[in-house]
Amino acid sequence: MDPWKELKEECAGCRGCVLGETRTNLVFGVGNEQAEVMFIGEGPGEQEDLQGEPFVGPAGQLLDTMLELIGLDRSKVYIANMVKCRPPRNRDPQESEMAACSGWLRRQIQLVNPVIIVCLGRIAAAGMIREDFRITREHGHWFEKDGRMLTAIYHPSALLRDPSKRPEAFMDLRNLRDMIRVRCEHTY
Ligand code: URA
Repeated sequence: MDPWKELKEECAGCRGCVLGETRTNLVFGVGNEQAEVMFIGEGPGEQEDLQGEPFVGPAGQLLDTMLELIGLDRSKVYIANMVKCRPPRNRDPQESEMAACSGWLRRQIQLVNPVIIVCLGRIAAAGMIREDFRITREHGHWFEKDGRMLTAIYHPSALLRDPSKRPEAFMDLRNLRDMIRVRCEHTY
């Protein structure tokens, strides 16, 4: 069986935490399964839960614009979240929920095998880079882990709430573009 199909089906049946009971749809991931660049968000919001796809609400529209700014789109990258089911009323996913969901993300990362992982916001950075990650201080920095390059940029929702952060996010995106040019063979 196709490993992606198998993983998605297994994930759809997961009841490792309570989020599976209240969600409408599983929000597994989207994009290029051979991407060299993978983006990881926090968890599905209302629109994502309704449509079963990551980043399709207002934050997703801004993410698409951010990708476009550096010549990328959803066909060139893979996008997933720390948790695959919507936390009720868009609360932060709890640590136990992220822990219960981490195996799915780990297997997605293994299958995509990206060169670069971009964490969107503090919660993804805390899970992927370091538990006490400080997004205001460390966004745009690079970390090498398991042979991959990891960075975190401001979450598009944070940029919608606070547009004064956008110039910094723009710098981080240019910096990401430069790293892609150096490390990735097929993205551009
Ligand atoms: N915010 C996220 O972190 N992920 C989504 O899929 C949508 C909004």
